[in-house]
Amino acid sequence: MLTALYSAKGAPGVTSSALVLAAVWSRPVVVIEADPTGGDLAYRCRAAGGGQLAASPNVLGLVAALRGERQTDVSEWAQPLACGVNVVAGVQSPAQARGIGDLWRRLAVTAAGANVDVIADLGRIERTSPTMPLLTAADVRVPVLAASLDSIVHTRGHLLDVLVDGGRTLPLVLGKSRTVAADARDVDEVLAQGGVIAAPAAYLPLDHPGLSVIEGGASPAGRGRGSQLVRAARTVAGRVLESAGAEVPA
Ligand SMILES: Nc1ncnc2c1ncn2[C@@H]1O[C@H](COP(=O)(O)OP(=O)(O)O)[C@@H](O)[C@H]1O
Ligand SMILES: [Mg+2]
Repeated sequence: MLTALYSAKGAPGVTSSALVLAAVWSRPVVVIEADPTGGDLAYRCRAAGGGQLAASPNVLGLVAALRGERQTDVSEWAQPLACGVNVVAGVQSPAQARGIGDLWRRLAVTAAGANVDVIADLGRIERTSPTMPLLTAADVRVPVLAASLDSIVHTRGHLLDVLVDGGRTLPLVLGKSRTVAADARDVDEVLAQGGVIAAPAAYLPLDHPGLSVIEGGASPAGRGRGSQLVRAARTVAGRVLESAGAEVPA
């Protein structure tokens, strides 16, 4: 099952959301950093062995393995973070992303058919982005947006422009913990007014300490457990799995 997280504009928190959702995911999952502007998690998160992730394996190795129709297991290209998330580290420059060219398409097919769930961080995406096949192939598409009118309106325009068949759209709103639930309802209203068909928006609070402990390597079952962010992420992860009709272990 492939879940694609992306944004229409700006940097609302796509990468952080992908990380936290993967940390609380109830089934085996791999994050693939597929943001053409470059991956971030290697620099932001502690690796399982301490220190930073190694330079490879990474997404370049994964797509190279897909050249010539070869099959590969996405997990083989992932590295474990200290928080327990397995991540296929992204490119280090837009030039590397361009070099991947048509193999993004092959990656999308592989990610959608992988024997583990895949959360793809697509970063900001446009209709002409080389990573569009990942959005098209996704079982659940999660546009991430800030709880501000400009962000909501841009996301609405984007959804109307880039709309793809199949799959489900589950917007994810990030905002202040006290107001973000109400913000999510505003998002539903603005999207519906524009004729966008999407599931009711899910939401995550802005919780800097909560995010820092996960990045620093705390497990969401351990020291990270009580944070607002982790608790909210469990609800969001459940909704994503539910909207894909995925079986969740009891
Ligand atoms: N839920 C959150 N709580 C606190 N800070 C967050 C949260 N999500 C994102 N941020 C912060 O916002 C900034 C942008 O987040 P990032 O995930 O890199 O966005 P994007 O991938 O959309 O560019 C980072 O400094 C990150 O620490
Ligand atoms: Mg990002």
